[in-house]
Amino acid sequence: MTQTSPITDPVDLAKRRAAEQAAELVQPGMRIGLGTGSTAKHFIDIVGEMVKDGLEVACVPTSEQTRAQAESLGILLTTMEETPGLDLTVDGADEFDSQMRLIKGGGGALLREKIVAAASARMVVIADASKEVKTLGKFPLPVEIVPFGLTATRRAVSAAAALAGCRGTITLREREGRPFVTDGGHYILDCAFGAIPDPEALDDQLSRIPGVVESGLFIGLAKAVIIADTNGIRILGSLT
Ligand code: 5RP
Repeated sequence: MTQTSPITDPVDLAKRRAAEQAAELVQPGMRIGLGTGSTAKHFIDIVGEMVKDGLEVACVPTSEQTRAQAESLGILLTTMEETPGLDLTVDGADEFDSQMRLIKGGGGALLREKIVAAASARMVVIADASKEVKTLGKFPLPVEIVPFGLTATRRAVSAAAALAGCRGTITLREREGRPFVTDGGHYILDCAFGAIPDPEALDDQLSRIPGVVESGLFIGLAKAVIIADTNGIRILGSLT
């Protein structure tokens, strides 16, 4: 699949190459989850081109931003209510490790992204090579919380993180001087832990806090990661 205006930025080109590889998994009649972010945007562009060429698929967007892009490309959209089981979800990630554990939520869409990924037979991650890490946590972990009880929840997140061996600054995400509000009406705490030695333990601790809606740790969800850089494509996991 070729892009109309040439991409010159090597990182953006890598994102496009990863998206092109993922698009080869798309089959007529599939129900597809569409991720959010600059890498997923390439995949959605390609699906839009395929739809123009006659492909019939039904897609669930993971954010209002993705919904707007998909609608503008004429991609048929469905909902999780109409289509609770999906064949394939393709999404980006902020970080991934060798076990395909992910940090997501840099774009604030982690809750819908996780619901859609969990409802999919296959979640395939597309990423440029800069997202690969030995230990998760250099990227601040987004944690989606309800606005009520923010200060108490932030404290609880800090205490839970300490139990999982994580310490660092926990910041309420803001946009234009106000709390950033997710598509679900929640806030996000960005947790700059530097390293997350035991992602499963941290996820478990965070899930026990009443004000926490979801963490940006995606564990056991990705079946494959398509990694692109200037040398080409590498696959973690299995695309079949
Ligand atoms: C949005 C996400 C994105 O997948 C993540 O932030 C990666 O984005 P990009 O492809 O722009 O680097 O989790 O909530």
